[in-house]
Amino acid sequence: MNNLLRILGDGRFHSGEELGAVLGVSRSAVWKHLQRLEGEYGVELFRVPGRGYRLAEPLSLLSYEESSVVLTRFGWQLCLQDTVDSTNAEAFRLLQSGMAAPFVILAEGQTAGRGRRGRPWASPPAQNIYYTLALKISNGPQGLSGLSLVVGLAVLQALRHAGINNAGLKWPNDIYANGKKIAGILLELTGDPADVCHVIIGIGINVNMAATAVEIDQPWTSVRAQTGVLANRSELVNLVSESLHLYLSRHAQEGFSSLRDDWEANNLWQGKLCTLSTGSQQVKGLMIGVNEFGALRLLVDGQGEQHFSGGELSLRLDHDS
Ligand code: ATP
Ligand code: BTN
Repeated sequence: MNNLLRILGDGRFHSGEELGAVLGVSRSAVWKHLQRLEGEYGVELFRVPGRGYRLAEPLSLLSYEESSVVLTRFGWQLCLQDTVDSTNAEAFRLLQSGMAAPFVILAEGQTAGRGRRGRPWASPPAQNIYYTLALKISNGPQGLSGLSLVVGLAVLQALRHAGINNAGLKWPNDIYANGKKIAGILLELTGDPADVCHVIIGIGINVNMAATAVEIDQPWTSVRAQTGVLANRSELVNLVSESLHLYLSRHAQEGFSSLRDDWEANNLWQGKLCTLSTGSQQVKGLMIGVNEFGALRLLVDGQGEQHFSGGELSLRLDHDS
């Protein structure tokens, strides 16, 4: 991350001399550099004669040292990047180049953050968490069963530890707080799922994102919007890592069945009328939960209980529910 932004990140005034010394330029050239910073990182800067420069809002930047303390305990290697296209895409590239999993990619910003079904994920720099964990799965389909729901549970618990008390899960793995999306998860696979493969677990959490930073075509919220205070992103990264480690270990040892009740207890739409889009058709039904593999269970009029799973499915709450 840009050195200048690290200094200004505290939201306090810094003199032209101080910033000029960091940049190795004269006082008068500082403003030009700062304007470039505004464009590049979407931050707003104030210039006050006699006092210097400060950011309109303080920033919480990621810290390699803080995040690697926790990850090292789990044997997960950390790659912290400034800007990447997508942390998931970067994980694919690193695996292809021979890097051994498990490892975590964290980025300050993404230029082509992706959601499910190729949708874009808004990823402005220095405001959110863009986190990818690459894992090797050696026990075939069993190791993948219900995995994406378990990741949702892990992220939900991390958010609870960060003070978000009103959040829950939307099948398969979106996290909502106060009816608005706060986090999304994208699992991608490489290799042979029936044998040895790698799963790339991508997690996007809206942390301190400013409403002016993005245009998103559905209601969204952030940790900051829910708690009212600027969140420390490195602390939240550590909460996510701890929680993922705990839930993934349970999943590896006991399978999804042991976490199914926990998932259903946090399901926002449990017992509600929903519509499922399967691409070509729409199915209406009462959501009665998930099965032992994490598939959606719907009670459909005239057809009884039906189970659905797959990446192309999209669930919506019925208005009269
Ligand atoms: P589903 O796939 O279950 O229909 P969804 O409509 O949320 O859920 P996803 O593919 O899971 O779709 O997520 C991508 C969508 O999320 C984007 O199309 C956009 O509407 C929204 N989105 C993009 N960036 C963000 C963000 N940072 N925070 C919240 N929502 C976002
Ligand atoms: C969704 O709700 O559709 C999933 C969004 C997943 C976004 C995260 S951000 C980190 C990782 N890198 C990506 O490009 N996507 C995931």
